[in-house]
Amino acid sequence: MNLFRSKATPDDEGYFTTVSADTVQADQMTAVSINRHKIILASWDGTLYAFSAECPHASADFSKGWISRYKVTCPDHQYCWDMRNGRILWPEDENYRLKKYPVKVEDGIVMVKIG
Ligand code: FES
Repeated sequence: MNLFRSKATPDDEGYFTTVSADTVQADQMTAVSINRHKIILASWDGTLYAFSAECPHASADFSKGWISRYKVTCPDHQYCWDMRNGRILWPEDENYRLKKYPVKVEDGIVMVKIG
């Protein structure tokens, strides 16, 4: 995991510059910080995803958890989410959702829209 701090100014569409797209690998979480928002970047099946590093259950830091394929596991209580749609996978009777952010790649750089 690495932590990249973005410059505070977004582009015209509200996207902030983060890291090189080559940095974001499958089965790894890449943590970035944009204006004090800690965000996880991850990749699965050729698609990039961005979501809040703060677990929606009780605010643990996802960057200390695990990712396998599209499944994100929290380090504190081992709840699991599908990063493709933000839905919880386990426990099945809970309704917490990942806070996802729009993400795009421009000139090889991952751009994330927050706010
Ligand atoms: S804080 Fe993440 S599952 Fe409880």
